Amino acid sequence: MEAPQKNLALDLVRVTESAALASARWLGKGDKNAGDQAAVDAMRLSFDSIDIAGKVIIGEGEKDEAPMLYNGETLGTGMGPRVDVAVDPVEGTNLLAFGRPNAISVVGVAPEGTMYDPGPSYYMKKLVVPHEAKDVVDINAPVEENLKNTAKALGKDVDDLVVFVLDKPRHKNLIQEIRQAGARIQLHTDGDVAGALMAVDPLAEVDIMMGTGGTPEGVLAACAIKALGGQILAKLDPQKEHEKKALAELGYDLNQIFTVDSLIKSEDVFFAATGISGGTFLKGVRYTGDGAVTHSLVIRGKTGTVRRIQAFHKWEKLMRISAVKYD
Ligand code: FBP
Repeated sequence: MEAPQKNLALDLVRVTESAALASARWLGKGDKNAGDQAAVDAMRLSFDSIDIAGKVIIGEGEKDEAPMLYNGETLGTGMGPRVDVAVDPVEGTNLLAFGRPNAISVVGVAPEGTMYDPGPSYYMKKLVVPHEAKDVVDINAPVEENLKNTAKALGKDVDDLVVFVLDKPRHKNLIQEIRQAGARIQLHTDGDVAGALMAVDPLAEVDIMMGTGGTPEGVLAACAIKALGGQILAKLDPQKEHEKKALAELGYDLNQIFTVDSLIKSEDVFFAATGISGGTFLKGVRYTGDGAVTHSLVIRGKTGTVRRIQAFHKWEKLMRISAVKYD
């Protein structure tokens, strides 16, 4: 038996809430950089109050381009556990800019040295399934075979399945293969962290996620999948010559298959996400005039506890102490 320890995710949710509250002001305004910047500023400030000695593994990019939340930056008070940190202040910057569903603010934390560092890899091929299907899929197998095996594991027919796919030209063949197999599809312009979470959530309308998206987003999704159950299988899938070259020079193996356990090597993982634009998965920020309401998901790997938190923020009190101007 172990004495209950601190659930860091309950602190992290304040970080994603603050990023969501700040960035949701930019909903539909067509300016993805301004929305992202508002979230970065708010998230960076909120991290200062958290008792961790954190290092950003998945951040806003290299220090030169990203003044805050850059890869390698240290976060937190420095007083607590040494942890790897993955952040995406706005996952789905275009979704926010155009007021489309499923823009979320996301943070994952795992013990130092246990989070996969994507280095120069931008894209990976991903296959995400719920826990019932975790042992019956193979990222190298034909699409139809994975769909058949997943359907069987879920006790469904293939034509009952809904597959989340990013609506990108690179997925033309994949979409055709899914249709030929008889499964149904949700096409989304962006936001495959939400897609991965929906695939492992038994209450969501998605059964499986397939296709190529961001490598950092893959690691972030793995933080949650580790705790929720399910599987993410992935392979680096460079989309541009310079990415391919950088990976080859550093000896990355494009045939290596990643799993949830190789992306996040510890059970002691924490994940928090807050809805920004709204959607079926997490409701967005609703400003009420005198405050705002946020909806978040808070997950702890070690205990498997999943919390959904609805928070009411009151400007009158919050603005007396907040360095971020939300009102
Ligand atoms: P951003 O929030 O950085 O815009 O990423 C959104 C996203 O759709 C991710 O969810 C996804 O993994 C990635 O971009 C796909 O990249 P691309 O749009 O270049 O195909």
